[in-house]
Amino acid sequence: MTIANRILSTPSTLGSQGSIPIASGGFGSFEIALRRRTRTASDLADMYDGASKSWAQTSRRLGLETAYSDPLISSGAVEVLGKPSAHVLDCGIGSGSLSLALARVAQKPFDHHGIDTSSAMLAVADAELRRAAIVPQLHQADVRAIPYPDLTFDVVMAAHVLEHLSEPHLALREMVRVLKPGGVLFACMTRRSVFGTFVQLRWRTWTVSNQQGIAWLRESGLTDLQARPIELGFGTGRASTAFWAKKPLGALDSPPNDGVAARGRTVDDCPAQI
Ligand SMILES: C[S@@+](CC[C@H](N)C(=O)[O-])C[C@H]1O[C@@H](n2cnc3c(N)ncnc32)[C@H](O)[C@@H]1O
Repeated sequence: MTIANRILSTPSTLGSQGSIPIASGGFGSFEIALRRRTRTASDLADMYDGASKSWAQTSRRLGLETAYSDPLISSGAVEVLGKPSAHVLDCGIGSGSLSLALARVAQKPFDHHGIDTSSAMLAVADAELRRAAIVPQLHQADVRAIPYPDLTFDVVMAAHVLEHLSEPHLALREMVRVLKPGGVLFACMTRRSVFGTFVQLRWRTWTVSNQQGIAWLRESGLTDLQARPIELGFGTGRASTAFWAKKPLGALDSPPNDGVAARGRTVDDCPAQI
């Protein structure tokens, strides 16, 4: 198995706990906002380590691979992968459902990379992808500090990861940094629904509206923004939204960086140059 099993120079700020909005309302001159502290990165990694044994089966029950396929085709990712030696990064790869969906719709080989903070999930992804004749390069790393140089990938994607973060813009900034100009960013996020509320209570996640998701992508400097609700299986209904966008062709420089995500890291420190 080719998993680099150490978390790479993760800035200490990523371990800190932020909070996410749960509900808000008004009563006369009162404004009430309810927020909940997210789980820390290490708590979350422990939880996903624990859930990893049954995750592939849960993903199959929810029909994730099928649910991701149509929006992936609409996103233009398949066209972007049409050129020789295209590179793809799946952030928070889990058991690999999104990667498997892309491999199925692309119907051509590409250079496949994945990161996750849970080492047990990476082991499951490795097994699932190899079963589908894909040999991935996997790294234990946080999406807020992606261990690759700028402008590396043609497609950067994440399914049901960003809603775990109190500061999703830090992750999006990193995803955009490693994306090539003209490349596709694809992200699925839990939306408000009965299942979404269950996920939110258990995992302390956002439920992300179309408007909110689009705003995050726009603030990250992306263009051609699109959102579409997706239907998951097992009676959960339209519990998720697929968002996609492009990095503008003129965007040759790294996006503005406040020094949090990439502090102290140079290209030479990156174990995963391609
Ligand atoms: C809900 S699962 C989704 C897995 C997969 N993308 C899918 O669609 O089936 C979320 C995954 O993201 C990983 N994860 C959570 N926070 C992360 C972070 N900050 N950086 C990288 N991976 C993270 C978890 O370990 C887990 O494998």
